Amino acid sequence: MTAPEIKYTQAFINNEFVNSVSGKTFVTLNPSTSEKICDVQEGDKADIDLAVKAAREAFKLGSTWRRMDASARGRLLLKLADLIDRDAAYIRELETLDNGMVINLTTRTIGGIGNDARSLAGWADKIHGKTIPIDGDFFCYTRYEPVGVVGAIIPWNFPAPILVNKLCHALVCGDTIVIKPAEQTPLTALYIASLIKEAGFPPGVVNIVPGYGPTAGAAISEHMDVDVVSFTGSTEVGRLIQAAAGRTNLKRVALEMGGKSPNVVFADCDLDYAVEMSHQALFLHCGQVCIAGSRTFVQEEIYDDFVKKSVARAKRRTVGDPFDKTIEGGPQIDQDGLDKVIEMIESGKKEGAKLECGGKRIGDKGYFVESTVFSDVTDDMRIAKEEIFGPVQQIIKFKTLEEVRDRANNTTYGLAAAVFTKDIDKAFSIANTVQAGTVWVNTYFVGSSLTPFGGYKTSGVGRENGMEGLMEYLEIKTVIVKIPEKNS
Ligand code: NAI
Ligand code: MG
Repeated sequence: MTAPEIKYTQAFINNEFVNSVSGKTFVTLNPSTSEKICDVQEGDKADIDLAVKAAREAFKLGSTWRRMDASARGRLLLKLADLIDRDAAYIRELETLDNGMVINLTTRTIGGIGNDARSLAGWADKIHGKTIPIDGDFFCYTRYEPVGVVGAIIPWNFPAPILVNKLCHALVCGDTIVIKPAEQTPLTALYIASLIKEAGFPPGVVNIVPGYGPTAGAAISEHMDVDVVSFTGSTEVGRLIQAAAGRTNLKRVALEMGGKSPNVVFADCDLDYAVEMSHQALFLHCGQVCIAGSRTFVQEEIYDDFVKKSVARAKRRTVGDPFDKTIEGGPQIDQDGLDKVIEMIESGKKEGAKLECGGKRIGDKGYFVESTVFSDVTDDMRIAKEEIFGPVQQIIKFKTLEEVRDRANNTTYGLAAAVFTKDIDKAFSIANTVQAGTVWVNTYFVGSSLTPFGGYKTSGVGRENGMEGLMEYLEIKTVIVKIPEKNS
């Protein structure tokens, strides 16, 4: 297959594609080959300043954006959704090239963005306050108002879907936005920028500045004129962003971060189904998923069978050229990602887990790793505690419901959890007690722009999606009006 043509490599500010102020560029790589795809303009503080200025100007009272009816804002987003769908075949190839995600998966993720955007667009004219019957001769109501300028910091693992999701949240609420894509994966973001312009958004409403985290990213989190930061990425960087907000203008932060999600498999489950779902829960996108089921707890009666079947399944997993439709797993994102996975595998071996299959890099071109399964994993091992973000499954034995409930929560993370069982009492027991933002019963990865998503503990601050997600992008104003006594 021929690689998709690269059309945009400049920053997008005020509806124009521009070079970086410094004139610097950086290289984005193809993770399948470790080779350069192209140079991209490298934004830093100066470019973020220009983008925030444009976003602030677009947000000014009396601006086209502020005067636009909510329903018209919604229609602009619907237009954007149509353009994304029109160009979905191109966008998914670009995403596969820049990220290494297999084409089967980008077909699903990019294919889903349009509908996500449509669902979120529907909120535009349905966000409204309340009237509150307070004591006395007063008419009291609330208004839900846009917060102002949003800064969005995007990770590389699902570049286009996360970008569009944050964008839609901000825009349906009437905010303007400055977005920094991940340095590993800037290309789909810049193509979507061209669609923003084509859809007809006023200049400055959406600005996209490619660049590195400690420069461009930090410039967003430290900016005195950014009102909200919405971030998805590592817990380590999430801490920096919250601290930066505290040091500067106390901007609001919404953080979606790491996970070490427990996937609890009881002996009474449908075994083959649970094996397959647990496999997908971990190996999808080579484990580079915040909600990956990375602690697979299996009840002792079925433990040996479960391990045997999981190993057989992992050995059948096809890893290779992400543009090949028969391939299930592509490369890790970059050299750092690869090194981290290999280092964690070594630590698992050293700490006494049993390496059942895999464990090594594949070839020397690109960042491919064998599908790896560890059994006899104990809770104190690093592979059971730390996010690996790679194709490495940890299978852990447990005896009783009470025991696994405690062990599932024995983590600093709390993003997602799953339980496989035919017993409804066990299912509710896990669902109600596990400290996680999302719990699946006999399924995995299901979600929608209508379902609140986020983390307990160090996995998150705030929620995305649903009305709860929109609240991160809204201010609530209470208005109290004195009315004549006779009218109360
Ligand atoms: P990262 O947290 O460094 O990157 C995410 C985004 O934050 C990127 O746009 C990056 O440029 C930006 N960033 C980095 N440093 C920043 C700073 N000082 N201020 C503001 N923005 C900054 O994650 P990275 O290094 O790509 O991956 C490391 C690990 O993080 C992964 O192995 C995985 O464990 C976790 N991760 C989790 C994700 C999730 O979906 N929750 C997504 C990406 C990574
Ligand atoms: Mg790349």
